[in-house]
Amino acid sequence: MITNDILAKAEKLKKLLEQANYEYYVLNNPSITDYEYDMHMKELQALEVQYPELADVNSPSQRVGSDLNQAFTQVQHRYPMLSLSNVYSVEELRDFDTRIRKVVSDVSYVCELKFDGTAIGITYQNGEMVRAVTRGDGVKGDDVTANVRTIRSIPLKLRGNDFPADFEVRGEIILPHASFNRLNAEREEIGEQPFANPRNAAAGTLKMQNSSVVAKRGLDCYLYFLNGDQLPTESHYCNLLSMRSWGFKVSEHAMLCTTIEEVVAFIERWDEERHNLPYDTDGVVIKVDSLAHQVELGFTAKSPRWAVAYKFKAEQASTKLLSVDFQVGRTGAITPVANLEPVQLAGTTVKRASLHNADQIELLDLRINDYVLVEKGGEIIPKVVGVDMDRRGSGLVPFKYITHCPECGTLLVREEGEAKHFCPNDAECPPQIVGRLEHFISRKAMNIDGLGSETAELVYREGLIRDIADLYNLEVEQLKNLERMGAKSASNIIKSIENSKQVPFERVLYALGIRYVGEVTAKKLAAHFKSIDSLMAAPYEELLQVEEVGEKIAESIIHHFKEPKNVEQLERLRANGVQMVIKEVARASDKLNNFTFVISGTFEIARDEIKSLIEENGGKVVSSISGNLSYLVVGENMGPAKLEKANKLGTKMISLSELKDLINS
Ligand code: IVH
Repeated sequence: MITNDILAKAEKLKKLLEQANYEYYVLNNPSITDYEYDMHMKELQALEVQYPELADVNSPSQRVGSDLNQAFTQVQHRYPMLSLSNVYSVEELRDFDTRIRKVVSDVSYVCELKFDGTAIGITYQNGEMVRAVTRGDGVKGDDVTANVRTIRSIPLKLRGNDFPADFEVRGEIILPHASFNRLNAEREEIGEQPFANPRNAAAGTLKMQNSSVVAKRGLDCYLYFLNGDQLPTESHYCNLLSMRSWGFKVSEHAMLCTTIEEVVAFIERWDEERHNLPYDTDGVVIKVDSLAHQVELGFTAKSPRWAVAYKFKAEQASTKLLSVDFQVGRTGAITPVANLEPVQLAGTTVKRASLHNADQIELLDLRINDYVLVEKGGEIIPKVVGVDMDRRGSGLVPFKYITHCPECGTLLVREEGEAKHFCPNDAECPPQIVGRLEHFISRKAMNIDGLGSETAELVYREGLIRDIADLYNLEVEQLKNLERMGAKSASNIIKSIENSKQVPFERVLYALGIRYVGEVTAKKLAAHFKSIDSLMAAPYEELLQVEEVGEKIAESIIHHFKEPKNVEQLERLRANGVQMVIKEVARASDKLNNFTFVISGTFEIARDEIKSLIEENGGKVVSSISGNLSYLVVGENMGPAKLEKANKLGTKMISLSELKDLINS
């Protein structure tokens, strides 16, 4: 039976945790440590497992999401989700102002940043989140409530008591640059197509079926509009302030303006300053402040007459396409690159721009000597986005994509589902060999720092080596006569090649350059298989059991070791003393002898580090909780299923610092 004390305790913990969330994610000003947060969360989770009566979809413990696949149901919007009409110049903006002043003379505007993400409408009843719906077609959208609950800057329960009993907030779900970059790096590492920009990534994430994955992606949300019958004030700006007081994240950059000149100044300021924001914006939204005026102005079929979006110009330039180069990467992937007549764009001179692949070139109907539009978007390398057809000269012929490798002449292949063409001649195609060499010597791989990329290429071109394994047969005598080399640098190179024989197996595995096996995957594979021989012998099913390894990676590994030349190269590396097994860890103590551990949740240090710590002190880390487990090491956001099992079995739970105490005791 649940007692009032337990109820009060749970209520108190929930308040405390939501307050901590609010301080951290909305105010950017935390007042408790992560450790305290974790301990409170652990306590609440334990109570919720013990007393199912406490079940509450808006409990802070729900923010970790669920592993169960969800199907999205379609929901009708109570207030249609319209879009805004756009203007692209100050002139058009002044026309908007003139139109407004014909209807309402004494007007104030609210200027806001236009967040570049995906729109959301969230309904609150009696201060609690009940539903979150995407725009969809504006009339109906997808119910994505479970995913939205995981976004920590969005309140599950409101603060204060002056909110309407039933209302909807509208806002934009965004993926800040830091989260976007991290996500794309992870995707590239596992061989998945990176997202083109944060907007696509935010929209894609919001529609994922597994909310526990959404919880980890780092989405954020700015709220910018209120819909409902009993709104707190008659001014949009004051409503924004009320929303903020209820716990919503409302941009601090919204500004109330009384003249169109002030609006123009706001736009000019943010056209510059937006580059310093940690998220994407693509314009400024200008709204009539008075709700009474808004009603008077009304709507067209598609958008409100009382608001407009001023869109920033994507930084573009027009220039002549001189030629197209084809680069061959280390995996044989072909990338077309445009050579352009030099042009100024956003403060730099652009001479080359990305063309992506054959489909893109065909889509643009590109021809040599065309005037093309280049754009600097969120990406670092500018890209060709269009052709200025008005300036197309006569007699230009459609561009023909290459059929053979520009470096070695081999017929190119295009695998099903791949956007890019590949040169299959990996054994002899020079840029592929040089690319693999550069990868092999790079800092995160073998770290052969004496040998830079350029020298590596030179050594190859001079015929001193044919592949990575030959590096270990190089001699000072051969190197010292090379261009811009002397006896000293030559002997440094040989020394750093020699030192690389100590590089641990996990980095050797990464250095081998097996397609899709990035740094993290190599680490997981090394930890699981311990040696190259057991990795080579591993059947497909066992590879799939390794964390981070999916079908694509497993197939790539099998494929790699099926090639006799790869195995032969590996044997030469091994014969030269390169590490092909993981070194047994040095024992720090026997304090954890005969103890077994499961590590669960996220910690301030990597899980691998905790694992090493346990093993160095004689303990063993296992993957699942059982009756004879010694300890469960608990971090943040531990899955509820694990917690339930641990509680059922009466498993002892400890934090990371308690683990350290155990070792130091
Ligand atoms: S107000 C009826 N304010 O831009 C008023 N929209 O192209 C509805 N957006 O649908 C929108 N930042 O997804 C508003 N500060 C902001 C915004 C904003 C981004 C998005 C929103 C809207 C789209 C219109």
